[in-house]
Amino acid sequence: MLINGARLQLQDLSIVYDGQITAVDSVSLDVEPGEFLTLLGPSGSGKTSILMTVAGFVPAASGRVLVDGDDLLGRPPNERNLGMVFQDYALFPHMSVAENIGFPLKMRNWSKADIKQAVDGALEMVRLTGYENRRPTQLSGGEQQRVALARSTVFDPPVLLMDEPLGALDRQLREHLQTELKRVQSRTGITTLYVTHDQQEAMTLSDRIAVMRDGRIEQIGTPAELYDRPATRFVASFVGETNLFRGRPTGSGSGAMLETGNGGQIPLDGIADLPRDEMIEISIRPERLTIGGGARCTVEATIVEVGFAGEMIRVTAQTSSGDQFRIKQQNRGQAGQLSAGTSIQIGWNPEDLVVLEQPVD
Ligand SMILES: Nc1ncnc2c1ncn2[C@@H]1O[C@H](COP(=O)(O)OP(=O)(O)OP(=O)(O)O)[C@@H](O)[C@H]1O
Ligand SMILES: [Mg+2]
Repeated sequence: MLINGARLQLQDLSIVYDGQITAVDSVSLDVEPGEFLTLLGPSGSGKTSILMTVAGFVPAASGRVLVDGDDLLGRPPNERNLGMVFQDYALFPHMSVAENIGFPLKMRNWSKADIKQAVDGALEMVRLTGYENRRPTQLSGGEQQRVALARSTVFDPPVLLMDEPLGALDRQLREHLQTELKRVQSRTGITTLYVTHDQQEAMTLSDRIAVMRDGRIEQIGTPAELYDRPATRFVASFVGETNLFRGRPTGSGSGAMLETGNGGQIPLDGIADLPRDEMIEISIRPERLTIGGGARCTVEATIVEVGFAGEMIRVTAQTSSGDQFRIKQQNRGQAGQLSAGTSIQIGWNPEDLVVLEQPVD
């Protein structure tokens, strides 16, 4: 089954509750046909509001929502032809699995034979063949979500909206269903707008991620772009873990340094065109830091803490001027050589260092 995914566009979309609470502030977004795009952001950043407005349950204060160029705003939800899976979007308890999945087709006056064929295909896709006669109460949480996914895609909608569909499930089941979801999505080619506040889930599933903050999109890009080139401190710390340092750049070329508040010096070797006499902020990921010599940029530090996490070792180290580095290394049996109080050299390549846009605060 291949659905022809549509282009979903949000243009200057604003959503205001009770005439005064601006939940979404002039958001513009193009989701390409067949793309899996995730809205990622903390609680209250406006993710659900966007989905509810696209679905037709919450009005827009201004802006447009287009599917293949057609404006959806003003149409009731049942005339928008969108697939929807929400965290608590319950199945009909009095209907069997097959009846639940077939419901959208019955509403569209499909024939019994066509419904059966489509339901069988949908069941196979979510790997629930043989479950057609069960009631929702006879299913596990993960199975219920798979039925919800089948029900929301069985009528070949051009766009699928999902709001934290795996939020209520335990980690193992969530990871399993992430794989299933991704498989169903790429098999059907359905354009997907997904919502989560779980950055790991967003990175695993998405073609692109829009990071939301206070009703706006702070940055949009592929998971790798957001992780490797975060634009702001907010994105750098929301998408993955990071080390942040603020200070003034001094020197130039290979002698360029970031002077941190307490007289610390962090090498910026090779980073060109830094603003002078201005505070800047840099980000470097813990796993890009090495312990021991050989790197282009190095600082001397003392280990403060070593954390053992199975396949990873986490080391916190501090320079003499008090700048703290968090380092993440793969466990290759070196844990014994790392202990609090040991002097080490922390190293990195200048390409792994990101200069962030000026913090607004
Ligand atoms: N029905 C409503 N009436 C008034 N304000 C609302 C309503 N729904 C949401 N809000 C407000 O709009 C803002 C955005 O809420 P929204 O539900 O879109 O956030 P979210 O990003 O989905 O958060 P979460 O991760 O907690 O689900 C919040 O400040 C919230 O308090
Ligand atoms: Mg929400």
